Amino acid sequence: MKKTKLIISCMAALASIGASAQHRFTVDARPGGPIQPTMYGIFFEDINFGADGGLYAEMVENRSFEFPDRLMGWNAFGNVSVADEKPAFERNPHYVTLRRSGHTEKVTGLENRGFFGMGLKKGMHYDFSVYARITDLQGGTARFRVELVGSDDVPIARDTITVTNNKWQKYTATLTSNKTDAKGLMRIFLMSDQGVDLDHVSLFPEDNWHGLRTDLVKDLEDLHPGIFRFPGGCIVEGTDLATRYQWKNSVGPVENRPLNENRWNYTFPHRLYPNYYQTYGLGFYEFFLLSEKIGAEPLPILSCGLACQFQNKDNDKNAHVCLDDLQSYIDDALDLIEFANGPTTSKWGKLRADMGHPTPFNLKQIGIGNEQWGPLYPERLEKFMKQIRAKYPNIRICGSSGPSADGKDFDYGWKEMRKLNVDLVDEHYYKSPRWFFDNATRYDNYSRKGPKVFAGEYAAHGKGSRNNWEAALSEACFMTGLERNADVVYQATYAPLFAHVDGWQWKPDLIWFDNLTSVRSANWYVQMLYGTNRGTNMLKLTENGKPVTGTDGLYASAVYDKDSKSYIVKIGNASDKEQTVTLGFNNLKRPVSTAKVTLLQSSDIQAENSIANKTAIVPQTSELPVNGTNVKVILPAKSFTVYRF
Ligand code: AHR
Repeated sequence: MKKTKLIISCMAALASIGASAQHRFTVDARPGGPIQPTMYGIFFEDINFGADGGLYAEMVENRSFEFPDRLMGWNAFGNVSVADEKPAFERNPHYVTLRRSGHTEKVTGLENRGFFGMGLKKGMHYDFSVYARITDLQGGTARFRVELVGSDDVPIARDTITVTNNKWQKYTATLTSNKTDAKGLMRIFLMSDQGVDLDHVSLFPEDNWHGLRTDLVKDLEDLHPGIFRFPGGCIVEGTDLATRYQWKNSVGPVENRPLNENRWNYTFPHRLYPNYYQTYGLGFYEFFLLSEKIGAEPLPILSCGLACQFQNKDNDKNAHVCLDDLQSYIDDALDLIEFANGPTTSKWGKLRADMGHPTPFNLKQIGIGNEQWGPLYPERLEKFMKQIRAKYPNIRICGSSGPSADGKDFDYGWKEMRKLNVDLVDEHYYKSPRWFFDNATRYDNYSRKGPKVFAGEYAAHGKGSRNNWEAALSEACFMTGLERNADVVYQATYAPLFAHVDGWQWKPDLIWFDNLTSVRSANWYVQMLYGTNRGTNMLKLTENGKPVTGTDGLYASAVYDKDSKSYIVKIGNASDKEQTVTLGFNNLKRPVSTAKVTLLQSSDIQAENSIANKTAIVPQTSELPVNGTNVKVILPAKSFTVYRF
């Protein structure tokens, strides 16, 4: 039933001649100001198990036995203890010791169920690795078995590892799954009288990309993002200063990256995840590598010396660094720029090279502070700016305007950011779909002088905070306003990016996944359509001399793409009725011919994509024959269409 409707709508969008036009939009074909390559991008935060248990492909939870409850994530049986004497890794000192349990029938071992189960795929190889040594300094040989086990408790694959050394050494095995199982697990059994110490017990699917899930990397790559904001979000700030994200802990060998808590472990009492920690396996080096792979400019956000302002009082001195003690925080920012761009002879540039990337990552901008407000922020930011500007005058700096789209703190934030002359101001807004429709004009009257806008976190939150078509369509219509104002809006990133279906704390989110697969939300398709149709220059699109910002539920914008020599028109029809529009081009050098039409539509505003139904809302493409400078298009109710002429 649904399918038939979609085809009819699709054909309606195709029909160019014959319907009576009620609206006439005029596109001035003379290319205007440039659109930044960074215009549409992604916001990553380790929320909703976005990193550990998500994009980071490690399948073992608490692989280093560093969670405060050392065996959390593990079922231990027989004689298992935790120790930290002569550890393998100084910054992750705990390990387990497996010893015979007294009589031969009783086995000693460990079981790990990963993050909500381990996703096993038929035919996939899984790379197991562990650091081990025999427990007895007198010598002897220890043996243990590692197994992949299905959710029915039947072993799928196994291998045996022999440990002969009393010094820590890395051992590996490859296990192949003969079936697909979303909720598998891994078991280790001691098989010798000699005991064994184990640390950094790890399992990765063979098809990972630099430790990241390839399917999720593809979901990012296909968005064609221009900018990649990382690592957040509130986790930049920390609930207290000690738990802020410290990038230096996230580089170097993964085995020695110290664990941090994840504030999303406990932030929402109705969605507690006591097992949520940050191993930093996906750290700043992987972030820069991934930015390079997906063609996005990296945008790191660092702590400005203020712990989360939602969770602390501004007069609590423990929640912020006093101005005189800020230098180590400023050094973190300066050193990160050196890590990204510095010569391999510099301290941090050398680390980048040692990790495998001697050429610079070409970092161009940095954000100081996440979602900060009030006077504590600008006085700290100023100190960062002075030193960053002095050492790296070409690095652009993003400052924050706080957590709201308007109001006292927002106005104060903007005023201070102007005074400091930051390059970009980060705005955050999680609002209703109605707000998004109504705010397509938000930037039309923004000052063109001073800092540019970075819409650094935004998403439409409707009833039930779902990734439904209503939310996605409202974002699509709102984004025509970003596009029309690309001379002041330089970048925009939907937030958050990822959510595990079994472990989320916040919704809606752009991409949902389980341990086997992912689903692209309707909002993802909106972002993808903007990302792949960004254009290089603004064009004026008007009706009766005015921008199209909601009359009769219509929203529209246009850009020119000088690389493909295309005119791109985007139109949202938020109304309940099909509408006809005549698009007329002025100042064309030659008539346009044939448009590629991409239609995103559902007559059900509650519809959403899910793992069970990934294609409820997906783009339909077609061709529209055109000859001349005028073309009639029919827009289905509740639709968003992109025309490439
Ligand atoms: O995107 C989720 C959260 O929303 C971010 O961590 C924070 O910056 C904002 O409040």
